[in-house]
Amino acid sequence: MPADVADYTLQSPETAARFARIRQREVILSVQNLKKSFVTNGTERVVFDHLSFDVHRREFITIIGPSGCGKSTFIRIAAGLDESSGGAILLSGVPVTGPGPDRGMVFQGYTLFPWLSVKRNVMFGLQMKGCSDIEAESSARQWIAMVGLEKFEDSYPHELSGGMKQRVAIARALANEPRVLIMDEPFGALDSQTRAKMQAHLIEIWKKVDITILFITHDLDEAILLSDRVLVLGVNPGGLVEFIENPVPRPRSPKQITSPEFIALKARLDELIHPPQPEGEEEITIPPMVKLTVAGDEVE
Ligand SMILES: Nc1ncnc2c1ncn2[C@@H]1O[C@H](COP(=O)(O)OP(=O)(O)OP(=O)(O)O)[C@@H](O)[C@H]1O
Ligand SMILES: [Mg+2]
Repeated sequence: MPADVADYTLQSPETAARFARIRQREVILSVQNLKKSFVTNGTERVVFDHLSFDVHRREFITIIGPSGCGKSTFIRIAAGLDESSGGAILLSGVPVTGPGPDRGMVFQGYTLFPWLSVKRNVMFGLQMKGCSDIEAESSARQWIAMVGLEKFEDSYPHELSGGMKQRVAIARALANEPRVLIMDEPFGALDSQTRAKMQAHLIEIWKKVDITILFITHDLDEAILLSDRVLVLGVNPGGLVEFIENPVPRPRSPKQITSPEFIALKARLDELIHPPQPEGEEEITIPPMVKLTVAGDEVE
């Protein structure tokens, strides 16, 4: 570690006390020796193995790792959309065997029904669950207000910006009152300004709702700004690399990006997901190319 970078494991007494309180909360999600492999053309490829960790109620966990390390695969198993190849995930002590209303999902791609209004999109899951139209509508209104879209409840998805669509997706996921909200790069397609607003918005929602969040991202700033702990997954071998208690104090603001704790944690995360290449190995090799410009037309 360079001398000017603080130790990412150092926590202020307030932060240490906050983590002590978090650890006393019930374990809502327990991942036990989880394995996932795919068999292609008769060959087994292990995505991850021996994945074990616990998440406490109302923790905000961000998950990072190199592309292909199995982040989406892991949360698809947690959501019950895919089966593991071994081990188990327990939700409040009960093994996950399929999808259920106790887990809500938000993906990067906009997954709203284009033919339904905002209100009808949010009502959909509630109606599927057997709520009456009146109940579903009143609950949908409440969640639409929570994400600040009251004025748009009769709009259709194509009339909304990307950030607004994701707010509807969050309202739709929360309307079923899940215990765990699972988000796979939900803000990945948004411009940086909208993304920052959505991050602040999600934190406000998380403070008001009894929800535990698993949030995948490629953006290290986002992983730090949002999380209580950051789960780092690796490749070859795939699995847990480190599960880090975020030392940056709460409440957070984008200004903390220049704080010593933030810089220290970011340096550590960067090191974990971009391990130094072995001597003589280039990460990207650029093949020799034929020149297609005329002489004298070189860029500088
Ligand atoms: N249905 C499948 N059949 C075979 N291999 C699969 C299947 N689904 C995923 N994989 C493989 O599992 C590995 C993990 O994929 P996954 O999508 O979970 O990675 P990820 O960490 O989410 O990546 P990214 O950051 O690019 O989203 C990849 O090597 C992928 O090719
Ligand atoms: Mg993915």
